[in-house]
Amino acid sequence: MTAKIFSVLVLLATAFLGSTLGAVTWTATPFNPASVPLAVRSPYLSAWLAQGSGTALNGAWPTFWTGSILGWAGFIKVDGVSFSFLGVPSVPGTTFNKATQKSASFTSTQSKFVLSAGAIDLTVTFLSPVEPHDLSKQSMPFSYMSLSAVSTDGRTHTVQLYSDISAEWVSGDNSLGATWSTATGNTFVHQVQLANQVVYSERNDHIQQGSAYYATSNVAGTTFQTGADVTVRAQFLNNGRLPNTQDTNFRAIQDNWPVFAFAHDLGSVGSTAQSRVIALGHARDPAVQYIIANNGRQDRSLFFFSQFATARDALLSFLGDFNDALTRANAFDAQFNSDASKISSDYASIVALSIRQAFGATEITISKRADGSFNTDDALVFMKEISSDGNTNTVDVIFPAWPILLYTNPVLGKFLLAGLFEYQASGQYPNRWSVHDLGAHYPMAIGHNDGRDEAMPVEESGNMLIMTLSYTQKTGDTSLISTYTSLLDQWTQFLISDSLIPANQISTDDFAGPLANQTNLAIKGIVGIGAMAEISRLLGDTTKASNYSFKEPNRLKFGLKAIATSFVQQWQNLAISSDRRHLTLAYGDSASWGLSYNLFADKLLKLNLFPTSIFQMQTAWYKTVAQPFGVPLDTRHTYTKSDWEIWTAGIMTDQAARDLFISSVRKWASDGLSSAIGDWYETTNGNPEGFRARPVVGGHLALLVL
Ligand SMILES: *[C@@H]1O[C@H](CO)[C@@H](O)[C@H](O)[C@H]1NC(C)=O
Ligand SMILES: *[C@@H]1O[C@H](CO)[C@@H](O)[C@H](O)[C@H]1NC(C)=O
Repeated sequence: MTAKIFSVLVLLATAFLGSTLGAVTWTATPFNPASVPLAVRSPYLSAWLAQGSGTALNGAWPTFWTGSILGWAGFIKVDGVSFSFLGVPSVPGTTFNKATQKSASFTSTQSKFVLSAGAIDLTVTFLSPVEPHDLSKQSMPFSYMSLSAVSTDGRTHTVQLYSDISAEWVSGDNSLGATWSTATGNTFVHQVQLANQVVYSERNDHIQQGSAYYATSNVAGTTFQTGADVTVRAQFLNNGRLPNTQDTNFRAIQDNWPVFAFAHDLGSVGSTAQSRVIALGHARDPAVQYIIANNGRQDRSLFFFSQFATARDALLSFLGDFNDALTRANAFDAQFNSDASKISSDYASIVALSIRQAFGATEITISKRADGSFNTDDALVFMKEISSDGNTNTVDVIFPAWPILLYTNPVLGKFLLAGLFEYQASGQYPNRWSVHDLGAHYPMAIGHNDGRDEAMPVEESGNMLIMTLSYTQKTGDTSLISTYTSLLDQWTQFLISDSLIPANQISTDDFAGPLANQTNLAIKGIVGIGAMAEISRLLGDTTKASNYSFKEPNRLKFGLKAIATSFVQQWQNLAISSDRRHLTLAYGDSASWGLSYNLFADKLLKLNLFPTSIFQMQTAWYKTVAQPFGVPLDTRHTYTKSDWEIWTAGIMTDQAARDLFISSVRKWASDGLSSAIGDWYETTNGNPEGFRARPVVGGHLALLVL
């Protein structure tokens, strides 16, 4: 992961927000986060409401994760009086009020806003489903907005609703030309795309391929229109309905801003809520280009294409499924909340905020057989390293996110690792350690046949071994370890030669710089060797298992010569500070220390390689060095990472230390100093560093998988 220029952007955004926004005037449950997920389902369907210290749903435009605007406007008319409820449209020649936001809340899958417009309360629910056990549904890059109006004064009122999206949803460059169309029938579907698409190509992190969709059921009172934003919005504000006409003057996104709108006349609304649902999304085909043998290229499609001929067919099915999807989402939210609340309510709130963000960086794909039919036995998951490098399937980004896969469905983790295994087993990657990623630019997974990927040799080799054993332990499925035994052992040999005394290199926290003899990196390597011992045991190779590591209770009696066991002994002599109060950041530097989050893997895999005394020492130490917003990542800086804070919470031997980490992350997440949800921040004052919307927040689930 690399910081690049995003820290600059975030700092600018923060300065701007700090000067313009006031305090939150509504009830926020469980808290007011830096950014509220609105429609977050894929690297290219990623719409948020940036918050800072508090922005109502009608206080700013929704934005893509980069911060660029996504036009998405909403109005409600109550007894002829107009109010805006979504976005900040300006419509010359008309007058309208702003609805007043009363509350905002989020769960794992939903963000909900209640706004009052005269005597009507409008509930706007943004549902981005998470369907870890249904590959087709999870692969659909679609989301819901439901609008529900109810009278609050015991009387009935006439109510009309309006919403639209702009063509900003299809490109990162608003000077580009777009085309669009509207399908009518039982359902109205607006579809918009770039006039000149470029497959697999991004501009400002938006994909330059595929279409955006905006769809609703054609029930009585539903009307549509496409056209210039001010024209279409004025049409509704003046008339309460739209003329069912299409603007066919195709033009640039920013040329008289074409918008794609629906109006819903709810008629007379009393104390029974009246609701309408809109489905929206962004889909493309093919989705990912993937390297196969002999430097070949394979075009892969989103999984749902195995069940639907077109993205529009899938969208119609998705729209019709709303009631069931909501029931499933509520059950999913309740399960998560119940499990996470057993740790604490602070923890449950952090987890709820992390789920859509983590899954929103992933896509499930399949290949085609020679006859053109889809091969659903060949599922591969791809993850974009959003905001740092934009790489595809970065091993040290999958690794911190791993707990969310382990908890929700480890098979998705297998499909994420499978592409990395297949590629390296093809023999095209020349290094003896594990590759860093499958491709420099998402959505291309075309490998690094020159071997010049960002080198993190100990980090990635250890990560692959740890995740592979973790998957195998969780599922009992030995297919990965039996198919890729020699690759796993190759990486283990590298760790045996290079992890006790790690050379000068970077770890996953590459922004902190390279360093020799990193204590925490050595832990990762040793746990990796221990993982291979266990993998060998599961495969029946007891000689290798005993050579690499002895299992308790024989470790102390017989096993000191086993490699991982002996490394732990030697490592203790190298890694503990001279006053024996803490682990160092690097061997020999007794004044240094850092988060030893890699010990979490020893616990996760139940290897028990490292003695309890080490965990106890770290627990006592962190209590003495915590800053107001948590424990710094290491002594080189005062910043930290929220994912590693929670991983470290998982290795604490007492609850007070564990809760210190949890409450620090919760305090940062709700501090109002950022407009975007990152994972890298200052422990002294809670200010954001770079990084936003990254999948590593899946690591916030670490305490649920121990
Ligand atoms: C790393 O630690 C080993 C063992 O203490 C030492 O021999 C070596 O010089 C150290 N390397 C560096 C670059 O400091
Ligand atoms: C143990 O593993 C090491 C590293 O692979 C190897 O060099 C050594 O020969 C092995 N020892 C035995 C007894 O198999």
